[in-house]
Amino acid sequence: MTTRDLMRESLRNFRAYVAGGKQLQPDLSMPIVKLNANENQMGPGPKAVMAMTAELGLGHLYPMETIQRLKKKISEHVGLPVECVSVYHGSGSGIGAIGEAFLNPDDEMLVCSPTYMAYYMLPGRFGAKLVEVEADDGVSTDLDKIYDAITDKTKLIFICNPNNPTGTLLDAEKLFDFIKKVPEHVITVVDEAYIDWVSDESYPSAMKMVEDGRNLIVLRTFSKIYGLAGCRVGYAIANAEVTECLGAVAMGPNRIGAAGAAAALDDIEYYNAAKENNSTQREYLTREMEKLGITVVPSSTSFIYFAPHCDTKDCMDFLESQGVFIRYFSEEYIRVSIGLPWQNKQFLTALSKYLMRYQKKAV
Ligand SMILES: Cc1ncc(COP(=O)(O)O)c(C=O)c1O
Repeated sequence: MTTRDLMRESLRNFRAYVAGGKQLQPDLSMPIVKLNANENQMGPGPKAVMAMTAELGLGHLYPMETIQRLKKKISEHVGLPVECVSVYHGSGSGIGAIGEAFLNPDDEMLVCSPTYMAYYMLPGRFGAKLVEVEADDGVSTDLDKIYDAITDKTKLIFICNPNNPTGTLLDAEKLFDFIKKVPEHVITVVDEAYIDWVSDESYPSAMKMVEDGRNLIVLRTFSKIYGLAGCRVGYAIANAEVTECLGAVAMGPNRIGAAGAAAALDDIEYYNAAKENNSTQREYLTREMEKLGITVVPSSTSFIYFAPHCDTKDCMDFLESQGVFIRYFSEEYIRVSIGLPWQNKQFLTALSKYLMRYQKKAV
């Protein structure tokens, strides 16, 4: 018998989640271009850094009042009462709290594949069952299929919008119609980790559907546009009753991260600069990759999901040999996070080098 045999049965095949899919072994002989985990390569903004530095001196005190300040800031930011806000040690921990609060053994949780990896592991942690429907085109979340798969046992539906890893964005009206018609015994979770990167400034958040007592949870994170992935702060917006249920199990952020997140919400200059870099570089990368004959899925996010029409594993190995780390998904698709201009150039140089070699080999 091994110790693993003592683990809860539903968890025995699980391994630790590694952001980016792979633990990097830094080779200090070359600069590493890390475009595998959708981090914001601009680093944290100056206001967040200043607030976190100031907070360090209070590290001996439990973080309650800093967390209250953050919740208040978030409530003002989203225009909803503070009773609708819960904060987490990263939105990944928010995903865990949702499972812990709501999933009973034998409940079903619905997702449309492909979507964010962490959802797939959630139901197993609570003895619940994952029910997957597949995107017909391999990339776009199919709300009709999700709706048709709802049963009496469905407890949770996870929708990532825009979707990770594909970068696709749902039609907002269709999403709102879907949320309205989901039956009462089901809680819909809309994960908006990447919504800040959407170009259309008028694109609405699902938060506007939260107010009227519906079983809806909207997840957000400070790990993406606010550049605070290492500081671990995320939040959920839901009606007061749902938020109270989540409060029973939530694990909040630490004092330093909470202070950084609160200050980040005020740093409009940094936010706009991050958005500007991402939009410009997204257009540039899309254009250059298409010139290389690559199929690029139009992205509303800080990453690009693409089919290079070659052996994707071999391609990734080559990129790694050039110091460029991206994320493998399937024999057809891989994903690159959008970085700073020099990083994107290094990625494109390595990719075109590989494709030239590959095309030569194929002749
Ligand atoms: C869709 C989605 N949701 C949630 C998360 C988790 O974010 P956090 O760093 O806040 O745990 C990620 C991280 O990559 C993500 O892609």
